[in-house]
Amino acid sequence: MTDENHSQPSENRIHGSVTVQDAETLAASIPADATLATSGFGSVGYPKAVPLALAESDRDLSLTIVSGGSVGEEIDTRLVEAGAIERRYPYQVTPEARAAINEGQIAFHDSHISRLSDEIELGQHVDVDIAVVEAVAIGDDWFVPSLSIGPTPAYVAAADRLIVEINDSLPRELEAIHDVYRPGRPPNREPIPLTHPGERIGTSRIQFPSEKLVGVTRTERRDTSYTFREPTAADRAIAANLLEFLADEIHDNPVFAESVQLQFGVGSLGNALMGALGDFDFGDREVNYYGEVIQDGLLDLLDDGLLDVASATSLALSQDGQDRLCEDIDRYAENVVLRPSDISNNPAVVNRFGVVGVNSALEVDLYGHVNSTHLGGTHLMNGIGGSGDFNRNALIPIVALSSTAKEGAISRIVPMVPHVDHTEQDISVVITEQGVADLRGLSPRERAEEMVEHCAHPEYRSDLRRYLKRAERGGGHIPHDLSRAFDWQSEG
Ligand code: COA
Repeated sequence: MTDENHSQPSENRIHGSVTVQDAETLAASIPADATLATSGFGSVGYPKAVPLALAESDRDLSLTIVSGGSVGEEIDTRLVEAGAIERRYPYQVTPEARAAINEGQIAFHDSHISRLSDEIELGQHVDVDIAVVEAVAIGDDWFVPSLSIGPTPAYVAAADRLIVEINDSLPRELEAIHDVYRPGRPPNREPIPLTHPGERIGTSRIQFPSEKLVGVTRTERRDTSYTFREPTAADRAIAANLLEFLADEIHDNPVFAESVQLQFGVGSLGNALMGALGDFDFGDREVNYYGEVIQDGLLDLLDDGLLDVASATSLALSQDGQDRLCEDIDRYAENVVLRPSDISNNPAVVNRFGVVGVNSALEVDLYGHVNSTHLGGTHLMNGIGGSGDFNRNALIPIVALSSTAKEGAISRIVPMVPHVDHTEQDISVVITEQGVADLRGLSPRERAEEMVEHCAHPEYRSDLRRYLKRAERGGGHIPHDLSRAFDWQSEG
């Protein structure tokens, strides 16, 4: 812990010679074409007052915005509607930002989350002018992040200047949850000394050179956080199939003899799958979560004592979930840890813990290639986020999705994905509400059979088989009919 006691009153947030200014004054100090690197991940912990003041100013802005993961409406709706964003990195989830990117009005680039800190700190994408971050406490050369950490330590190191928003709606005691460890720079980077998902190897604050601080403002605005849908029948069936698969796997695989490390992707399905673990018997194994986001489903498991530790970079909770956590932080801090995203998603650490990674996708093809980001191969949905980090480095990478979209009108099991985020070599298992396709060790032709038989919706199986039959006439290791690969659904 730090030299400050985290159980002091929440009012005690501003220390040293730091003075508070209004958000409009700070926004006015930002050049019209600045590159801003913001805190925020999983739609929590992002700055709100300064982006809103920028959006409400009548200035002609052409900003570059670099966030960690998703942020809320102040940035990805209001600034977009104000026409203030020219470039955007690396992930977004709002209809407004998505539309502006797909219409070519905003230049967008996404990155694997595990690489983002280095890419920004080492100036590989942009030179950051100003880091704008949300915190729950600040001193002359440190601040305590709020509900997410993400790549903020690297962004603060990369930026010439720093603006901090203190969010008074959140308890200062969140400090107890943070573990900020900064890896050294290549080529002399040391192995990350994390030997257990719950271990703490850093400090609870982010440090900065005091001369970078431009100003501090205060807000009580809350996050535009996730709202999770109630689990659907398909979500429940996917969960049941996943649990059946896990039961066999942890019984047979010696890696899971004493403990199981799990990760679940962001979104309603991920949340439903986290919650469903409550019905699973792990025996006397230790069960830990080593992932990117902690969603509401995990709080239930922690409360019920079914989960030993939850480690991530974001408390991507609904408003209710945030309230639940904040009302009982000291208890949750015993087994919840937030880390920078280059640690939560670190390839070596994910590999070290033998993580079982469960992520969703837009569609998967017969051979196991996965499209997570581009509808129809062209239109951006959100971004790759951490899915590549976990799919590539988990011991058992699982893709879980419903077999159809749009009330059955679209099959999410397709002959060939029109955009590839994860290759056949990355993915071990695909699970839909129809069943489990265990693709490990199978040839492409065998994989295709497994996908049709166990994952595709019955309504689409004959079309898929017909496609395969025609594709096989052309031979090859991965048979395809490239003239028909993307229009097969129309043949009925
Ligand atoms: N074709 C057309 N529409 C599709 C589709 C497809 N193949 N697949 C999904 N959709 C639509 C759904 O119908 C739904 O539309 P609606 O909002 O109008 O109902 C929407 O896309 C979202 O689908 P859903 O299955 O509810 O999504 P989700 O919340 O489980 O998210 C991803 C799925 C792929 C968008 C999401 O997992 C993602 O962004 N992944 C990349 C990042 C990531 O995986 N991070 C993991 C580390 S935390």
